[in-house]
Amino acid sequence: MNYIGSKQKLSDFIKTTIYSVVGYDLSDKIFCDLFAGTGAISRAFKHEVKKIIANDFEYYSYVLIRNYIENHREIPHILTYIDELNRLPLIDTGFIFKQYSVNGGCGRLYFSEQNGKKIDTMRQKIEDWYIRQAISEDLYFFLLASLLESADKIANTASVYGAFLKKLKKTAQKALVLEPALFSINSNTHRAFNVDSNQLIKQNDIFGDILYVDPPYNTRQYGANYHVLNTIAQYHSFEPHGKTGLPVYKKSRYCSYTTVLHAFEDLLKHAHFKYIFVSYNNEGLMQAATVKKIMKKYGKYGCASKIYQRFKADKDENRFFESETTQEYVHILEKYG
Ligand SMILES: C[S@@+](CC[C@H](N)C(=O)[O-])C[C@H]1O[C@@H](n2cnc3c(N)ncnc32)[C@H](O)[C@@H]1O
Repeated sequence: MNYIGSKQKLSDFIKTTIYSVVGYDLSDKIFCDLFAGTGAISRAFKHEVKKIIANDFEYYSYVLIRNYIENHREIPHILTYIDELNRLPLIDTGFIFKQYSVNGGCGRLYFSEQNGKKIDTMRQKIEDWYIRQAISEDLYFFLLASLLESADKIANTASVYGAFLKKLKKTAQKALVLEPALFSINSNTHRAFNVDSNQLIKQNDIFGDILYVDPPYNTRQYGANYHVLNTIAQYHSFEPHGKTGLPVYKKSRYCSYTTVLHAFEDLLKHAHFKYIFVSYNNEGLMQAATVKKIMKKYGKYGCASKIYQRFKADKDENRFFESETTQEYVHILEKYG
């Protein structure tokens, strides 16, 4: 998934930075990814550590990490469910078709007519199987993650769901084909959470060795930019708002100048982890020097940095930027006992 702030392409840099501080053998370590997004970093460490704790407060992200991280045992006949979902006769009375698709009646062109109907058809069948206990929770989240990933590929957007395109682009004209969101098999157990990170960090059972912190950098709220994915994942009906059909969405304290510093320090203060690694860039709400100043209060500080290509949506929006690149930091803290 093309995700704002995804660390997929930076995962080697982040891994190297973590190895240089903690060492290469992480097999007895508990690793917590508090703002997991697509789960790219948790996935990169799933086979190297004893346990991953992954969290994100957006529900679509929870679905992804519940599948890619918490799922770790084989699920029998997994692909037969994908086949069955791909072959269902389409319904035309669902929420995604009516609210977010061509000819649905609301003028929102996030999906072609056929694809909107397909999403509803598959989503309702997955729920029906789950409610009737015909599928396990592991399989439920695997199928939901497969639907989110597959729907995202044929969405009619420039890259995020803050707006749809006026005409169906080529990829949005293609028929949605449900593809399996395969997770890796692993003998260790991992946990996925769907709460505010500042709340999770205060839980008594959340402690460990490595805390990876990758909060939003700017004022763009993920709940607004990915609202259609949340709507597919949650599938509750509501009164969509305005031209883009926004639901009421959660606001992150990391996306506002007035709240970010307090939220960040509160997180560090309450973290029961020996090593803390914070990804942030040079265009974020917090200046690198401020991040350093706050982190230094809690232990030994260090920093690694790398030049990185700007996120695609920023270029598409024709916004004025002095450079095509940003400076990515990994701020490092070895916390005092
Ligand atoms: C920069 S992205 C993380 C990207 C992720 N590392 C990846 O590679 O895909 C920031 C994430 O923080 C989540 N988020 C924002 N505020 C949060 C909060 N208070 N608690 C938990 N998650 C939050 C957003 O939903 C978003 O997925």
